[in-house]
Amino acid sequence: MKIVTPRLILREFQEKDIADIIANRNSNKKEVKSQILLNQKEIGKEKRENYSLGIELKSNHKLIGEIDIYRVDRFIGKATMGYWLGEDYWRQGIMYEAVQAIIEFAFNKLKLKRIELDTSTKNIPSNGLIKKLGFKYEGTRRKYHGPKTRIWHNANFYGLLASEYKTK
Ligand SMILES: CC(C)(COP(=O)(O)OP(=O)(O)OC[C@H]1O[C@@H](n2cnc3c(N)ncnc32)[C@H](O)[C@@H]1OP(=O)(O)O)[C@@H](O)C(=O)NCCC(=O)NCCS
Repeated sequence: MKIVTPRLILREFQEKDIADIIANRNSNKKEVKSQILLNQKEIGKEKRENYSLGIELKSNHKLIGEIDIYRVDRFIGKATMGYWLGEDYWRQGIMYEAVQAIIEFAFNKLKLKRIELDTSTKNIPSNGLIKKLGFKYEGTRRKYHGPKTRIWHNANFYGLLASEYKTK
């Protein structure tokens, strides 16, 4: 799967991305390889529960980040979102552009009704980004840990409903 935006290509991860991922995220080769293998298993599924897409910058063809729509529950119509971007690319509106594209995919193509995200109360960029995108703050959970991170933190919860997001 591939989503193209003015500056970006959101696409499946490939083995050739390993060096770029390590350069942009604090992780080791073994970890990255097993994540790519896991993602590749999802690709062929008829009803995917997880869309983990790499963010490729058109201008240099580098893999600079990731955006995920995961825990896709088609019966209830909801999914969780996650993202990271290499530090060299912060504050250029890149994730804002990537998230807008994935929101449209989730609401228009997957026909979901709700996207949710949690982020540490201390993560100023992520709290700022998600509010700018129109997600509503829905509360704070104490000593929460995300399914991926296993890091305990107080977490702000946000949700965006298809009915309140203007889709094309
Ligand atoms: C969170 C993250 C993805 C933001 O990506 P980004 O491309 O730099 O964000 P954008 O440039 O699209 O910013 C969009 C808005 O987010 C907010 N924002 C982003 N960085 C910010 C910062 N350092 N301080 C305050 N607000 C910030 C602003 O509202 C910004 O809009 P503005 O530039 O008009 O003020 C990036 O900082 C990152 O990868 N951080 C590390 C990983 C992480 O925290 N992942 C999220 C886990 S839940």
